[in-house]
Amino acid sequence: MRKGRFRKPIARVALHYSESQSFDRRLYRQDIAGSIAHATALAKAGIISAEEKKKIESGLRDIEREIASEEFSWNESLEDVHMNIENTLTQRIGEAGAKLHTARSRNDQVALDLRLYVKDETRRTSLQIKKLQKSLLSLAQKQGGVLVPGYTHLQRAQPVYFAHYLLSHVEALARDSERLNDSLQRTDVLPLGSGALAGSTIVLDRESIARDLKFTRVSQNSLDAVSDRDFVCEFLFCLAVIGMHLSRLSEDLIVWSTSEFGFVEFSEEFSTGSSLMPQKKNPDMAELTRGKTGRLYGNLMSMLTTLKALPSSYNRDLQEDKEVLFDSADTVTAALEVFSAMLPKMKINRGRMTAAAGDPSLLATDLAEYLVKKGMPFRQAHETVGKIVADAGSKQQLNRIPLTKLKKYSSLFAADVSRIFDAGRSLSARQSTGAPSPKNVKAQIARWRKELR
Ligand code: ARG
Repeated sequence: MRKGRFRKPIARVALHYSESQSFDRRLYRQDIAGSIAHATALAKAGIISAEEKKKIESGLRDIEREIASEEFSWNESLEDVHMNIENTLTQRIGEAGAKLHTARSRNDQVALDLRLYVKDETRRTSLQIKKLQKSLLSLAQKQGGVLVPGYTHLQRAQPVYFAHYLLSHVEALARDSERLNDSLQRTDVLPLGSGALAGSTIVLDRESIARDLKFTRVSQNSLDAVSDRDFVCEFLFCLAVIGMHLSRLSEDLIVWSTSEFGFVEFSEEFSTGSSLMPQKKNPDMAELTRGKTGRLYGNLMSMLTTLKALPSSYNRDLQEDKEVLFDSADTVTAALEVFSAMLPKMKINRGRMTAAAGDPSLLATDLAEYLVKKGMPFRQAHETVGKIVADAGSKQQLNRIPLTKLKKYSSLFAADVSRIFDAGRSLSARQSTGAPSPKNVKAQIARWRKELR
């Protein structure tokens, strides 16, 4: 690459500072697939012979195998994955190898490799999400009938089925898959053929390259094609949101696994101990997941900041796209894997959940709605029940207040009020779409079973 223009070799520090082969080697499969498709187009355009194309392809396949089995010798002075592979190829097959980079720049080459990588990772992440959804769903099926308090502000609010809670995370994860799939539309665009920034006087059939590499579309502006890293930002955003969702699930489980709550217990295989306190059993997997979400946000912010006010087309700054991308992909992969394996082994303490959900004050809203059904405006009913709750304080449970006393707050109270304090009955009445009636929850379980099949 420096042979013609340069008289002096690059300084060691400069090389070490700028090389990317140490991390972008992980794009070798994509790079080789791209080169084979490019060689096919060169042959079609008559730039190389069919014979040369064959040599290139088999040379690249050999290199691919060597890299996979870690026999390939990487050379820092060749900067990146692209030059390492091309150089080795040319050393081995001679002139044909030297023709491979015709009508191509590393600028469109790296954009291609990255898009291929993100496309693969997007699909893989969706599959992993599905696996976690299945873990949540099977837990929901197993723990179908158990109640748990629903919280707002982390204060007991209203009872729900534990299954309803679990399915709330299945919903969030479904949006994550949908978002990934949607971003794929913009990732799935072939940049190869854009050259350094202005295409080439050697015209290749880009549409046919796109078909070979399974791209749906071909980029329509060479300048934009080498500039664009929107798809990296979008993917990092998708991963950051997955992390955010997992961090919220983590937080619930961390709180619920405390002695104070005791709703769930992480299995020993997914817990850690203390180096000092012998009794400790800590929920580190969930804590790490909560913590790693910060990293995912940081990677997204780092990419956006790298791109801010960057001059059009390729600038070396763009090389900074890779480590954050790989890091986020690895982080989310690991978190999804741990959660999928950890959830089925989690112990559900049904007794503790049921007892907490049985707190009659969780049915205060039902009591207000009782008055509404008897004709009282909701605001007034809310105030009336509020007063009853305040007067009862912690001394008296809501369901233990005698009817004669309730009647002092409203003459609408009658003997049938006692039926209010039955969580199961309350839930059966919650029939509007999305609400946690047993019938609805069952239907949602059936829906997800079908969708996740
Ligand atoms: N290693 C480079 C990157 O990751 C490849 C593209 C180099 N292009 C260039 N004009 N120096 O971005």
